[in-house]
Amino acid sequence: MKGAGEPAAGAGRAGRSAVEIRGLRKSFGTNEVLRGVDFHVAPGEVVCVIGPSGSGKSTLLRCVNLLEEPTAGTVRVTGVDLTGPEVDIDAARRRIGMVFQSFNLFPHLTALGNVVIAQRKVLRRARPEAERIARELLERVGLADKVGSYPAQLSGGQQQRVAIARALAMGPEVMLFDEPTSALDPELVGDVLGVMRGLAEAGMTMLVVTHEMSFAREVADRVVFMDGGVIVEEGPPSRVIDDPAHARTRAFLSRVLDPAAARIGDAAESDMFRAADRDA
Ligand SMILES: Nc1ncnc2c1ncn2[C@@H]1O[C@H](COP(=O)(O)OP(=O)(O)O)[C@@H](O)[C@H]1O
Ligand SMILES: [Mg+2]
Repeated sequence: MKGAGEPAAGAGRAGRSAVEIRGLRKSFGTNEVLRGVDFHVAPGEVVCVIGPSGSGKSTLLRCVNLLEEPTAGTVRVTGVDLTGPEVDIDAARRRIGMVFQSFNLFPHLTALGNVVIAQRKVLRRARPEAERIARELLERVGLADKVGSYPAQLSGGQQQRVAIARALAMGPEVMLFDEPTSALDPELVGDVLGVMRGLAEAGMTMLVVTHEMSFAREVADRVVFMDGGVIVEEGPPSRVIDDPAHARTRAFLSRVLDPAAARIGDAAESDMFRAADRDA
């Protein structure tokens, strides 16, 4: 989180990165989706990943908690090499919370039940402790009065906040978010981003794929722009969003920041990208 005191680039100084990715490649058949990705997230840092659809953002996140097995390269989370032969994948995954676009709550469980269940099954917490933690977390995401509600009785934004509480209940050291607000009605986005902002302010290490540029601008320590399975550029949001170095980044941002203008310009898009590739 910006201004939290820790230097954003202080991974080396802190001794280890929260997330460290080296030479990451991932192919599906003959389709190489990640083509050599290197980057790190320092403890307490918030990194937003932006980029066009199909650029490999979700695959990158899924490789960080080994929902996908990398084709090559290493992924370390809090110093543990997830790609090493000896790794205890279940133990490693517990240190990583993941929030997806779709919330995937159990429909037959209340908000409380959804936050309790993995604590019981995975961490073997006693029910009273699991419920106490679940109540605290539901309060933290602004849902103290929805503890007994079922997913069908909750708005999309409320369901997503339950999903965030569920991930936090496992005590993760890193939280991954994959477009957590993309499926929400516009008026519900703010509450979810507000919860994420609160987490960032509390010092959580976060890797966030998002199209919410105002969130990235205000909350991210660093923004990473991906295209075609590589990192095209990264840096502070004021640099990458407001003064991008690469034409591909500029083209993407102009479409995200002004979708109406981009639609009018869609016919010219392929020309724009050909020009962008020449520039970059
Ligand atoms: N499980 C999979 N099997 C085959 N292809 C996949 C799979 N997951 C993703 N892809 C392909 O990888 C590319 C990047 O996808 P993705 O990581 O979801 O991009 P993004 O999140 O940036 O939109 C796409 O071409 C997609 O079709
Ligand atoms: Mg995606």
